[in-house]
Amino acid sequence: MEEGSSIFTQYVSTRHSLVKDSKILQTTYIPDNLPHRKDKIDAIVEILAPALGDNKPSNILIFGKTGTGKTAVMTYIGKELKKADPNEDHVCFIYVNCEVNDTAYGIMYSISNQIVKDPSNNKIPFTGWSLDKILTALAEVIDNENRIFVVVLDEIDRSVERNGDDIFYYLTTLNEVLKKSRVSIIGITNNAKFTDLLSPKIKSRLGEEKIVFPPYNVQQLEDILYNRAKFAFEDGVLDEDVIPYCAALSAQEMGDARRALDLLRISAEIAGRNGDSKITSAHVRSAKNKIEIDAMTEVIKTLTIQSKILLMGIIRNTENDMPVMTTGDVYSSYRYVCENIGQSVLSQRRITGLIQELDMLGVIHAKLKSYGNAGRTKEIELCISKDIIEMLKEDEVFADYKPPKQTTLI
Ligand SMILES: Nc1ncnc2c1ncn2[C@@H]1O[C@H](COP(=O)(O)OP(=O)(O)OP(=O)(O)O)[C@@H](O)[C@H]1O
Ligand SMILES: [Mg+2]
Repeated sequence: MEEGSSIFTQYVSTRHSLVKDSKILQTTYIPDNLPHRKDKIDAIVEILAPALGDNKPSNILIFGKTGTGKTAVMTYIGKELKKADPNEDHVCFIYVNCEVNDTAYGIMYSISNQIVKDPSNNKIPFTGWSLDKILTALAEVIDNENRIFVVVLDEIDRSVERNGDDIFYYLTTLNEVLKKSRVSIIGITNNAKFTDLLSPKIKSRLGEEKIVFPPYNVQQLEDILYNRAKFAFEDGVLDEDVIPYCAALSAQEMGDARRALDLLRISAEIAGRNGDSKITSAHVRSAKNKIEIDAMTEVIKTLTIQSKILLMGIIRNTENDMPVMTTGDVYSSYRYVCENIGQSVLSQRRITGLIQELDMLGVIHAKLKSYGNAGRTKEIELCISKDIIEMLKEDEVFADYKPPKQTTLI
C-alpha cells in the first residue's frame, strides 16, 4: 500500500468529490434559512415576543403532517430567542421531545434539567419521586428567578397516548402556583385528531393559539432542496433533473421535506459508493427503492409470530403458482406452515383479522371480489419484493420450516 493511503482511501476520495458538507443533508441539521415557512415563523414570533417584555405569551398548539418543518421552525425560533436574550434574563427556551421523554416524570425531569445548568444542583432525581413531589420541586426551580419559560413539547401526542393528559394539566396550571415566573407551553403534533385525546379543559388551555403547517407542494420542496444542496454539494455534481425528481416523488406522497432530503442524501451516497462522478435520476430511483425496502424490512421484523406464519403461507401459495388467492386458500396454507413448524393454529376468524392488518401495512393487497349470487370473497396478492421474502425465510421462526421440494397444494 502506498504511504499515507489506507483501505478506506477510495471512499474518502470519491465521497469528497461529490459532497462538500454531508451534515447539511442530514435531517437533524437545522438550516438558518427555512423557505416557505416565513408566515408561520412570523406568526409564532408575534405570539412569543411579549416574553421579552416579561409578559406571558399564549400557549400554542402546532399541527402539521410529518416533515412539514414543525420541529425545524421551533428549533430555529429557539435559537433566535436566545440571540435576542443571550443571558436568558427574560426568557428561557426549553425543548422536550415527548417521544424520547415518554413519561410525565421524564418530561418534568427534562425541563428541570435544562433550567438548572449545573446537574449536581438539580434536586430532582432521575427516578423515584412521586409526581406531586416532582411538580412542587419543578415549580420551585422555575420560580427561582422572575422569568418567562417557553416550554416546547414536541410529539406531544405520544405522551398523551401513553400516559393520558395529566401532565398537561400540571403544566398548564403551574402558573397558578408560581409567584414570580410564568410558563407558556407550545405543543407540537402531527396528529390532526390530537385534541380529541384531551379533556375539554386542557384542550382550551393548551390551544389558546393554533397554527397549522400545511404539506409542501412540489415547487416548495424543490426550493427547500436547492437551498440545502447549494451548500452540501460540489459544483456541477447534481444532474439538473435530480432535485425536481426528489421533490416530485415526495410531493406525491405527503409533501414531506424529510422524505425529499432522505432521497437526495441517499442518492448521493449511492453515487458516491459506485464511484460515479455525477448524481443522476437513476440514483434517485435506487434511493427510492432502498428507502422502501428499509421501511418494509422494519414492518416485517416487527410482525407477530402468527402474522409471520400467515405471510409465509401466502408466500408459499405464490411460489406454488397461485399469485392470487382466496381467504380459504390462505387459511389452508397458513395451517400447513403452522403444523410444519409446530405452532398452534388460530381460527379462520382470527386469521381474517390478521389478513386485514397485513393489507393495511401494505405487505399484501386484499381486494373484495363479488361473485354475483355466490357471495363475496377476498382476492389476496403478495406485495413484497424477493429480497424481503428471503429475509422472512431467514427469520428464526422458520428455522425448522421444511417445505417439501415439490409441494402439492392442499
Ligand atoms: N422550510 C424548510 N426549509 C429547509 N428545510 C426544511 C424545511 N422544512 C423542513 N425542513 C427539513 O425537513 C426535515 C423534516 O422537518 P421537521 O423535522 O421539522 O418536520 P416535522 O414537521 O417536525 O415532522 P414530524 O411531525 O415527523 O416530527 C428536517 O431535516 C428539516 O430541516
Ligand atoms: Mg418533528
